[in-house]
Amino acid sequence: MAFVEFKDVRKIYTMGEVQVAAVDGMSFEIEQGELVVVVGPSGSGKTTLLNMMGGMDSCTSGSITLDGARVDQFDEKQLTDYRRYDIGFVFQFYNLVQNLTALENVELASQICRNPLPPADVLTQVGLAHRMDNFPAQLSGGEQQRVAIARAIAKNPKLLLCDEPTGALDYKTGKAILKLLQDTCRETGRTVVLITHNSAFCAIADRVIHVKEGKVERMELNAHPQAAETVEW
Ligand SMILES: Nc1ncnc2c1ncn2[C@@H]1O[C@H](COP(=O)(O)OP(=O)(O)OP(=O)(O)O)[C@@H](O)[C@H]1O
Ligand SMILES: [Mg+2]
Repeated sequence: MAFVEFKDVRKIYTMGEVQVAAVDGMSFEIEQGELVVVVGPSGSGKTTLLNMMGGMDSCTSGSITLDGARVDQFDEKQLTDYRRYDIGFVFQFYNLVQNLTALENVELASQICRNPLPPADVLTQVGLAHRMDNFPAQLSGGEQQRVAIARAIAKNPKLLLCDEPTGALDYKTGKAILKLLQDTCRETGRTVVLITHNSAFCAIADRVIHVKEGKVERMELNAHPQAAETVEW
């Protein structure tokens, strides 16, 4: 059995009389330790898919399995534990706590976990040893995103889920964040799923899932993924 399995997953949002199939029968598998890029146009269901994988949203039908557990059958308590212990999230706009330092932001996350990694070590690993005592407002966008990634990694999650993590960053900074995510995957064997609408990012992935109109259009495996620093877009 694969590490992550989606089988005919649907998510229907009902708004009054209107039904929107945000995810319309997706099936795919992800192996442990892979760097996965999910790519597709705006509105194709990428965020919905990631939110269901991370237990932030439920599916309307189908099955979602992570590491042998049926996430779609979890009750509220199990979902809370799943989000807390198993999943690290990274968002486009960082979502740091503004009145806590970089170190305190990471500590906050590690305090709610079972086997957290030492916050200072993780911040050092993402290149922020010298910025630990700074508040988010004193950091650049790229540095804030590094803190957000450190916060997610410090939880020692089974899955690191990133929704457009470079979306708010300039070219050079975005590339550095991409490299950090690729290095995290390579060096720690952590499974990383990265959403983007930039198809240039596909080259760095082990697996690429192309989504379109709520469906998996196709899936590719890269035998030789490119190093993030060499990708141009
Ligand atoms: N909570 C919601 N209620 C109603 N419709 C929703 C909801 N969330 C998403 N949708 C709809 O589902 C579809 C897929 O949305 P989703 O956010 O997953 O797309 P996306 O691929 O992440 O797009 P983007 O690249 O713009 O972030 C869209 O048509 C969207 O309007
Ligand atoms: Mg989205």
